Amino acid sequence: MAANRTFSIIKPDATRRNLTGAVTKMLEEAGLRVIASKRIHMTRDQAEGFYAVHRERPFFNDLVSFMISGPVVVQVLEGENAMQRNRDIMGATNPANADAGTIRKELAESIEANTVHGSDSDENAEIEIAYFFKPEEIVG
Ligand code: TYD
Repeated sequence: MAANRTFSIIKPDATRRNLTGAVTKMLEEAGLRVIASKRIHMTRDQAEGFYAVHRERPFFNDLVSFMISGPVVVQVLEGENAMQRNRDIMGATNPANADAGTIRKELAESIEANTVHGSDSDENAEIEIAYFFKPEEIVG
């Protein structure tokens, strides 16, 4: 059975535009439940560690700078097929290519300022949840 938890970040473009509630509403309407949530301002080290898989990509430095440009909200989401369900409601990485009704189509500004992060596998979800949350901070 597919794991029922995934990891999400509401990115700085969304916190800056006061869209934390709007994003969370779309997640909830998609059948996901927020079982852990905190607003943080990541350090450069923290953001570089989080995106370590992208270290060699040309957009890495800009991505890290963007992710530390303001506060973010890190969340653990629960629901049936949570990882895929979240990826579906997020939409494509580039909002120009995202389907209508997705978070990125409706709310994102650009491929970089694209409003949300969501784990892309159950294995990464587990790693990313553990990167930001202690087990006792997750209340399912
Ligand atoms: P990626 O893991 O490919 O996308 P997703 O967030 O949909 O899983 O990329 C991670 C983030 O890197 C993406 O959300 C925004 C940023 N990014 C860019 O700034 N430029 C790019 O060309 C790509 C592919 C990603």
